[in-house]
Amino acid sequence: MHKVLIDCDPGHDDATAILYAARHLDLVGVTTVYGNQSVDKTTANALSLLTLLGLDVPVARGCDRPLNHSFSHGGDVHGKTGIDGADLPAPSRAALDMHAVDFIIETASRYREELVLCPIGPFTNVAMALRKEPRLTKWLRAISVMGGTTQVGNTTPVAEFNIWSDPEAADIVYRAGVPMWMAGLNVTRQVGITEDDIKRLQAGGSVARVFGGLFSFFLARLREIHGINSASMHDSCALVPFIAPDLITYRECPVEIELSNGLTRGMTVCDFRNLTAAKLENIRSRAAPNCHVAVGVKARPLVEHIMEAILDWPEPKSAT
Ligand code: BDR
Ligand code: CA
Repeated sequence: MHKVLIDCDPGHDDATAILYAARHLDLVGVTTVYGNQSVDKTTANALSLLTLLGLDVPVARGCDRPLNHSFSHGGDVHGKTGIDGADLPAPSRAALDMHAVDFIIETASRYREELVLCPIGPFTNVAMALRKEPRLTKWLRAISVMGGTTQVGNTTPVAEFNIWSDPEAADIVYRAGVPMWMAGLNVTRQVGITEDDIKRLQAGGSVARVFGGLFSFFLARLREIHGINSASMHDSCALVPFIAPDLITYRECPVEIELSNGLTRGMTVCDFRNLTAAKLENIRSRAAPNCHVAVGVKARPLVEHIMEAILDWPEPKSAT
């Protein structure tokens, strides 16, 4: 069973990814970052969620802002708490007395060549860890992200939220040389929980009912802001290569992050051209492939797999 550390900003779809990982993988830690809300709120949300699920997974609080600039938390899609729509229990414990950056390094050192790191929020913690401990590039088995897009963005016309939040951090991660998988919006937006799915959750056990409430809020916000009719399970997609690899297809290619301050800042430029080695004066040659980019998804089977993980979650002890 793969060992996985999730770096996240819960967040409705982050919460789902934590449950999905815990159901199928050895979840050895959760680190938190600003993003969908402040890091104080995302940390509290992670701890509350783990309390709800009855999981004793360590949580380390991370960065509260991007590497080079300030950041404001709109709470647009995920609400004021970062995870509006249901009452989560008060956390039964506190975060570790260790920064997320150090926890990532320590965990990767403990599980050398075994650990899969899944950043599903802005990539600031991961970039800081790579800067602080360059041997991380050898210790990590893989980095599998939710971030970017091969098509349209959700924060600007071309940029996805996790990358746009801290493009400089994303650039460090994509250049690190760790085997990398990228699930971008082009795929993750297809993996949507529908109103009918929400009804099934609301008729389920106590954990399923909480997720039903969360998704109901999330879907309403996505419908209002983006005009879509299902709640995108973006973040669970980052785990799929290690849980159900036949559900998402990837293509390996060079990916670079746009760092300029113009219209395209935060764009994930995926070079899908099949250029040969021929040197043509007016064609910029290919960089070396650095990432497996998600290009296709069996969306409904993946939604069902996520739904099954939620619906089958055992009743918390206090509820039985
Ligand atoms: C990403 O941004 C956040 O709102 C979600 O949690 C996901 O990680 C999608 O662009
Ligand atoms: Ca997220």
